[in-house]
Parts: sequence; structure tokens; C-alpha cells
Amino acid sequence: MTTESPIYLDNHATTRLDPQVLEAMLPWFTDHYGNADSGTHALGIEARDAVAVAREQVAAAIGVTPREVIFTSGATESVNLALAGAASRQPGRQLVVVETEHAAVLDTAAHLERQGWPVMRVPVASREAAIPGLIDLDQLAAAMTDQTALVSVMLANNEIGLLQPLAEVATLVHRRGALLHVDCAQAIGNLPVSMDAIGADLASFSAHKCHGPKGVGGLYVRRRERLVRLDPLLFGGGQERGLRSGTLNVPAIVGMGRACELAAAGLPGTPAAVAALRNRLWQLLADAVPGVRLNGPPLEAGLRLSNNLNVEFPGVDGSTLLAELAHEGVAASAGSACSSEHPRPSHVLLALGLSEEEARRSVRLGLSRFTTPAEIESAAEKIVAALRRLTAV
Ligand SMILES: Cc1ncc(COP(=O)(O)O)c(C=O)c1O
Repeated sequence: MTTESPIYLDNHATTRLDPQVLEAMLPWFTDHYGNADSGTHALGIEARDAVAVAREQVAAAIGVTPREVIFTSGATESVNLALAGAASRQPGRQLVVVETEHAAVLDTAAHLERQGWPVMRVPVASREAAIPGLIDLDQLAAAMTDQTALVSVMLANNEIGLLQPLAEVATLVHRRGALLHVDCAQAIGNLPVSMDAIGADLASFSAHKCHGPKGVGGLYVRRRERLVRLDPLLFGGGQERGLRSGTLNVPAIVGMGRACELAAAGLPGTPAAVAALRNRLWQLLADAVPGVRLNGPPLEAGLRLSNNLNVEFPGVDGSTLLAELAHEGVAASAGSACSSEHPRPSHVLLALGLSEEEARRSVRLGLSRFTTPAEIESAAEKIVAALRRLTAV
């Protein structure tokens, strides 16, 4: 195992904290430690003001007003609050999700299903289709009824990078009078994100996916045109408009604000530069490895996260390849980090129609704005060399 820091290609799992984010956070751990709800003294008031600035930064990054942003502990909590909070207001009414959603959505929906809310799961286009992973809008329209309370569709898939056609989805959902929740965890910094453009009523975010700290996220709750009502999951001090009680994590919130500000400032240059490196990596692999296959949408279709590759390598098990790569100083993973302790084949790849064996041969490679051209050349060499060693055995 090399002792240098690895070439990090696991940016869908989490990203490196930007040093500028750390710098913004540090004073809020040390000198400025007030409770943002202590309005009677300067330490509290400055903490409250710092949270207000962060809320403005997050709101600006997604094109909404600050009062529509609720801080949470991450996208998982945001998704739970969106789905369960909306469902609780509409007992027994239907929920619709897509088969390729993150476990945060699928497992929350399954939990609600056990409590009595009917759940429909919409399939996606198979690997043989022009855009594998794309939601079938006809099937979505057919799945909804007048009793549909909420539909959840992710903006960008965390395994195959597919960008779903949210504006069209929103039209169908709103025509039925239902709410649209959008999981945007992978999106900020990798593409422009506008709540109005995608028609979301609710949307979930996470700071650690865009070079912010772990354990903090946001939920967008629309208050313009339509006022979205939710029941809280956490009760107590009534923070965050009563939707999320609990003392605010001021350093983390400051970090999330700064991370979102930096991500928005880097658009559209950063995604274009990252996509060029990603395309280079794919080209190097495709040229050197006969039979290698890209999982998910074609790179040229423009419907893929700029930092995402998902590759099926012939003749090797993905976990064996990943272990070999870790030894050689390349950090990557097979799919959702949350499920890497349960080595089941990816539900996203299975939904695309890959066999279990094909899914197990697949590896996800995620870049970031910190990935360098030299790292891409070196990673490709190491992947090709590892494949040759493993397939020669
Ligand atoms: C698409 C998607 N949704 C939700 C989550 C959960 O985010 P968090 O780690 O902030 O709870 C993740 C993280 O892997 C994700 O990729």
C-alpha cells in the first residue's frame, strides 16, 4: 500500500474539504461559540448572523429565497423530512419514486409503505436504450393518480451520473396536483442548479458532496407560488421554522454556506474542465481495454454529471479490482458508499438490466475540481496495469 495520498476518484461518496471552507469554519469552533438562538448577547447574535449569511449563500446557489432553506444533518435527513413530513400531512395517499433513487429515498418510501402509504416505483430505460437510466415519462404519468401526494425524482444519479429531465417531470407531477421532491445531493458544483428551472417543491442537499463538511445539509421547502407544508420529524426548540428542532451546528452551517458559494462561483468553468478530464480518462481506458463498457448515458449526450464515469471491466470482479487499485494508490468504489458494507450488486445497474455478474464487474470513478490531469494519466495507467495483472492470473 502506498503511503502518499491516493489519487482520489471516489468523489460521489464524499469530497475533500476545500481549505477555504475550513478557514471560514474555524473561528466558529473557537472564539465564536455562541448558540445561534441566544439573542441576548453578542456571541449568540453573531452566530445567528453567521447562519443568516450561510442561508443566503445556499439560497443564492440554488436560486431561492433564504427563508426557503432549512438546515439539516445531511441529504439523508432532508430526504426523510421531505418524504415523511409531506406524507404525514396526507395520510394514505400515494407516493411515487424511481427505481434508481438513492437508498435514502427508497428506504424512506419502503418505511412509509409499511405504515400504509401506497408506493409506486417507476422503472428507467435499460442499457440498450439511447439514454440508459432515463425515467420513462409515460410510465410516470401512468403511475400517478389523483391520490398521489408526492413524487421523488433525483436530479443527478450518484452511480451513473444521469441527469433526469426534471422540468418535464415537474409538469406531469403538478398537473396531478402532487408535490415534487428532488434529491440534489450530487448536483451542486457539478451543474447549475435552479429550483425554479427544475420545478421542485422540495429538494435535498448535502455539503460534503461539494467540498463542504460532513454532517450538514439542507432542505429546500418552496414558499413562493405554492406554500409547501410539512410535519417535522424532530421536536423541541422549534428551530428552522419548527421543521427541524435542535441547536444549530454553526461551524458546519458556515462551511456549507461557503462551499455552496465557491461551487456557484466556479460555474460553468469547473464542470467543463472536470468533464474534459473525465472524457480523457474514459478514452484512455477504452483504448487500452478491449471489451470495456460504459454504464449509463453516453458522454456526448450531455445528460451526465461532468465528474462521473461508471465502467464495466471485462473478466474481473469489481471489488477485486478496487482492492488492487487501493493498494496502488487509487481510491474508488463500486457504487453507493452507504451500501459498500453490504456487497450486493448495485440496484441502479440492475435497474438498467445488467446481470448481477455485469454489475459486480463495474466500478464508479468520480472526479472533482481538485483532480489534476497528471492524476488522470496515472490513474488510467494503474487501472490498465491492475487489469492486466488480474486477468493474467
Ligand atoms: C444521491 C444521494 N442522495 C442522498 C445521499 C445521502 O447524503 P448524506 O450523506 O448527506 O446523508 C447521497 C450520499 O451518498 C447521495 O449520493
